[in-house]
Amino acid sequence: MFYEPGKTPHGLKKDPFKSCVVPRPIGWISTLNTDGTANLAPYSQFAHLTFSPPYVMFAANVKDSGERKDNVVNAERTGEFCWSLATYDLREEMNKSATEVPYGTDEFDLAGLEKALGSLVKCPFVKASPINFECVHHSTIRLPGDGVGASVDVVIGRVVGIHIDEAVLTDGEIDISKTVPIARCGGPNYAAIRDVCMFKMVTPKGAVAPAPVNKGAKEETIGMDNGQKADEAAR
Ligand SMILES: Cc1cc2nc3c(=O)[nH]c(=O)nc-3n(C[C@H](O)[C@H](O)[C@H](O)COP(=O)(O)O)c2cc1C
Repeated sequence: MFYEPGKTPHGLKKDPFKSCVVPRPIGWISTLNTDGTANLAPYSQFAHLTFSPPYVMFAANVKDSGERKDNVVNAERTGEFCWSLATYDLREEMNKSATEVPYGTDEFDLAGLEKALGSLVKCPFVKASPINFECVHHSTIRLPGDGVGASVDVVIGRVVGIHIDEAVLTDGEIDISKTVPIARCGGPNYAAIRDVCMFKMVTPKGAVAPAPVNKGAKEETIGMDNGQKADEAAR
């Protein structure tokens, strides 16, 4: 089958787009409201963008009222946000924190979650989550949409602090069988990432000459000997 989104019908029961790019990791994003209360919500339109320095993004569709989502408003106003890893153990709390409630409602309380305070930013994150990022807002890009709730704010932040619970380490590495991250697979379908369904595959080394040093782009080459190393590290 072939269809042109927004132009020709897909002919299926539901729009298949959200089930195509899966599993989508969850950006469990927290910020501070104007009155100092905390805000928390999950975003599966979330991604790690790069690593040196690390950047992440979440994409928030505007509310049906046409207003921006609370985390977008807060991230821009305060210049910061936090990300918490959504795990299988915290799935119910993650889901409760998605409830669309009036601005100023504390979804940590709503979901029965304790807060932990960051070292570099003022907004709290999920204490029970084993991995948390403190982020500084970099920029927001508005993508226009077709109809109500379709426009989206893509919020990009630089990760300035990373908390890792040492209980989830094995031999000095993050052990995914201990964190069990969850990811969205379209509609109500989720995946829990466990070691039983994981496999290893090493990226092949190409016959490429070391990349020339790009003196104008120091940030891109810090800690990297050549393009191959950067490519490996990115994965
Ligand atoms: C697993 C999951 C993923 C979600 N992903 C998104 C998303 O990527 N973008 C979005 O706009 N809303 C998403 N939502 C809905 C938001 O979490 C919900 O609208 C929330 O109330 C927004 O909160 P805020 O206005 O406090 O930021 C998702 C909900 C769930 C349960």
